[in-house]
Amino acid sequence: MAVTRDWDGGSYDRISAPMLAMGLDVLDRLHLRGDEVVLDAGCGSGRVAEALLHRLPRGRVIAVDGSASMIDAARARLGMHSNLELVHADLMHLDLGGVECDAVLSTATFHWVPDHVGMLGCLRGAMRTGAQLAAQCGGFGNIDAVHRAAAVVALRTPFAHSFAGWVGPWNFRRPEDMADDLRAAGFDDVRCRLVPRPVVPDDPVEWFRTIVLGSHIERLPDDLRDPFVRAVVDLMPAPVTVDYVRLDIDAVAAAT
Ligand SMILES: C[S@@+](CC[C@H](N)C(=O)[O-])C[C@H]1O[C@@H](n2cnc3c(N)ncnc32)[C@H](O)[C@@H]1O
Repeated sequence: MAVTRDWDGGSYDRISAPMLAMGLDVLDRLHLRGDEVVLDAGCGSGRVAEALLHRLPRGRVIAVDGSASMIDAARARLGMHSNLELVHADLMHLDLGGVECDAVLSTATFHWVPDHVGMLGCLRGAMRTGAQLAAQCGGFGNIDAVHRAAAVVALRTPFAHSFAGWVGPWNFRRPEDMADDLRAAGFDDVRCRLVPRPVVPDDPVEWFRTIVLGSHIERLPDDLRDPFVRAVVDLMPAPVTVDYVRLDIDAVAAAT
């Protein structure tokens, strides 16, 4: 599987309350009767999927993630449910065996995927015509301050040679560019907009290690990972604020 990075699902589950709060706002945009089949694309440790399950007493959740650690954490959180299917899969190669979902929810995930048209095309292939997509991911300008601090530290010895030539892991898009990709992938009624959502984490070192800088530290030997994260945190003004700018996405699967 070619997902961009690995995750620590246990740590993510423990610290991700601010991501859950953002995710619940996206969930509120889904129009649900309670009997639909809904795909959670990039479900992580399943905290948003758990809330989605409560909205679907007669429906079903298909929760997909590319990280084995996240799927394990989701299984630990959600247990066995007759109306839940946890799927370990890359969204770029999603195959639900002909299931046509009534809606797709995705939170904090699309910016980890390099090819949006390809991924959105796979999601469209798993949706019935008229199905709703409600999503949110990092958008243009997302975590600029963190990115700048990480770039400064990445130029320092002994980290520099691990980052030579690396362009970074994120795909933060402008609304108009994401809207073009959605139309190209078979969606209409497309609306995309940027929303600032700054977060002050309780434990900035764990937040950066687990969520923001996971791809960075994967490039480093074990003994340099914590020093890198701490150096980035130390460069940020107190209280450390993660300057999230989210891209809210609403669209409908168009007739093919
Ligand atoms: C920040 S977490 C978000 C989890 C959850 N949706 C939330 O809002 O808390 C991003 C998730 O996207 C998943 N992800 C990233 N790229 C993926 C891909 N190509 N296929 C499947 N999952 C992917 C990661 O494994 C990770 O669990």
